[in-house]
Amino acid sequence: MNEPAAEIQIRRMAAADLARVMEIAASLPDAPHWPQSDYERALNPEWTPRRIALAAAEQESCVQGFTVARLVPPQAELETITVAAGCQRRGMGRRLFHALAGELRSAGVRELLLEVRASNRAAQEFYRALGFVETGRRTGYYADPVEDAVLMGRKIR
Ligand SMILES: CC(C)(COP(=O)(O)OP(=O)(O)OC[C@H]1O[C@@H](n2cnc3c(N)ncnc32)[C@H](O)[C@@H]1OP(=O)(O)O)[C@@H](O)C(=O)NCCC(=O)NCCS
Repeated sequence: MNEPAAEIQIRRMAAADLARVMEIAASLPDAPHWPQSDYERALNPEWTPRRIALAAAEQESCVQGFTVARLVPPQAELETITVAAGCQRRGMGRRLFHALAGELRSAGVRELLLEVRASNRAAQEFYRALGFVETGRRTGYYADPVEDAVLMGRKIR
């Protein structure tokens, strides 16, 4: 394990964060590679279904991690959780998740679902460490390359 991050600040993602968010996503093969318009929709409170998007930074540094969930209470889907390579294994992903879970709980969400590439073992381990359990598989769900999805879920209490 790396040194824990000194102090992590988590806040709502803002339009000004999008260039950095896209830069982090582009640098990580396992992160979803959304066009900027998808992130812009995620920030739009009028858009349905509603999203919660959070950004994380260590002290005064620029954004190093982010997460987006789509809300369909009492369920939500964890669409992405991503931490820049140089900041991984320092507790930022866990902190982002717990901040998101708090917001989801307040919004009436009781169950959080996700799908992850079968080859993304690191993310599956991360999700298991956060209390997710595997609930099924979807054959050939992903394209480019074609791959199965592992479905996982966790109660939000
Ligand atoms: C998955 C990801 C968000 C984890 O973020 P992180 O900040 O590194 O995670 P944390 O430091 O909070 O780790 C919490 C726990 O998860 C588990 N974990 C995290 N990364 C792991 C890895 N690479 N291998 C095994 N377990 C891991 C560990 O139990 C860890 O606790 P520990 O460090 O005390 O052992 C990060 O690896 C990432 O951005 N990956 C690329 C993008 C991606 O695949 N996102 C998920 C699909 S959208």
